[in-house]
Order: sequence, then structure tokens, then C-alpha cells
Amino acid sequence: MRVAPSVLSANFLKLEEEIDKISQAGADLLHIDVMDGHFVPNLTFGPVIVEQIAKISSIPLDIHLMVERVPFFLELFAPLKPRFLGFHLEAESHIHRQISYIRSKDISPCLTLNPHTLVHELKYILPDLDMVLLMSVNPGFGGQKFIPHTIEKIKELKNLRDEFAPHCLIEVDGGVNHINAPMLVQAGADVLVAGSYVFGAKDYAEAIASLKRG
Ligand code: DX5
Ligand code: ZN
Repeated sequence: MRVAPSVLSANFLKLEEEIDKISQAGADLLHIDVMDGHFVPNLTFGPVIVEQIAKISSIPLDIHLMVERVPFFLELFAPLKPRFLGFHLEAESHIHRQISYIRSKDISPCLTLNPHTLVHELKYILPDLDMVLLMSVNPGFGGQKFIPHTIEKIKELKNLRDEFAPHCLIEVDGGVNHINAPMLVQAGADVLVAGSYVFGAKDYAEAIASLKRG
């Protein structure tokens, strides 16, 4: 099981220090939440900041786009060579085209589902993905409460994944903490995103370890 701390909850005035600390604390991926103020009611990082983060980070980036203009944002962020680059299923009509674009840049494609979106929607695109991100809160903000029906969705997705795309990882994002982590992992989660739980802790290493103990 891998942990991807979300930079959204870091202290932005000490970003380099925060990224160093979180990498040394055992984080596997650095989760970057890109919001456009349209798909979600919030704005975060543009490519200028993420490029600086990519330069100093010793762990790979996992970019989560919460944007309406998917092709435009993919072209902005693909040159930064993240390990994973993903967008929301709800935001794009030509999903296969955009996933193929990400793959053509040698980046692992990820597709993200809002809390209400049916896992079944993924059936025909799953073999083309390297990761599916299930949102366990409404996207837009850190520090929200975990939505319990996510557990059921993880189980459904695991069944589908095991049948159609065994290589594809299952990532969960929103309200993740040491209480729900064991249930998420047991249901089938491979990657846990955690923002406020990890960056709000006194000891980052202990917080990450508590999630990994599953
Ligand atoms: C929400 C973001 C999450 C968020 C998670 O839209 O996608 O990555 O930062 O934060 P927590 O773990 O605090 O819910
Ligand atoms: Zn996220």
C-alpha cells in the first residue's frame, strides 16, 4: 500500500521544507491538486508552481486535475513528467482520446470519479488506465468528512479491476485517516491520498506509518 500526501494541506510558505520532510517521512507519491475555479469552486496551483515542485521533489508526482478544459490542462502539465496524470470522468466526453494522449507522453494515466459516479462507467476504459482515483469527498477542498459509501465502491472497482485490468491501481482521496485506512485497504485500495491527516500531524512519519499499518 502506498501513501500520497496532498500538498494542498502543506504550509505553502515553507513548501520546499514541507516536501523534503514528507518525502523523508515515507511518502510514496506527492499528490498535487490542480483546481480551475470552474469544475470545482476553488483555485490552486498552476504549472509554474508545479514545475518548481517537480524540480525539488525526490518522490514522483501524482497530478489530480479538477478542471473543465481537460485537453488544455493536459498539455500544460504533461511536460512536467509526473508519474501519474489524471482528470475527472465527469469533465470530459472523449475520455479514450485524452487517456491515449497521456500514455503517448510516457505518463501513467489515471481517471477520477466523483463520489456519486458509478464504477460501472469504467468497464471499457479500465484496461487503458494505470490508476483509478475514487473521490471519497466532493472535490474542491481539503479537510472534509469521508463519505462512507466509498467502501462499497472500492469493492466494486476491485472486482472489475481484477477481471479486466489487474495492473491498474485503486487510489482513494478525501477524508482519509488512521481510522478508515484499514477498511479502505481491506476493501482493495492500493494508494491512499491524505492531506489534512498527514500535514496536520506533529510527526509526519508516524502519520504515514499509521496509514500504512492498514
Ligand atoms: C480534494 C482533494 C484532496 C484533498 C484531500 O478535492 O482532491 O486531495 O487535498 O485532503 P484531505 O485528506 O484533508 O481530505
Ligand atoms: Zn486530490
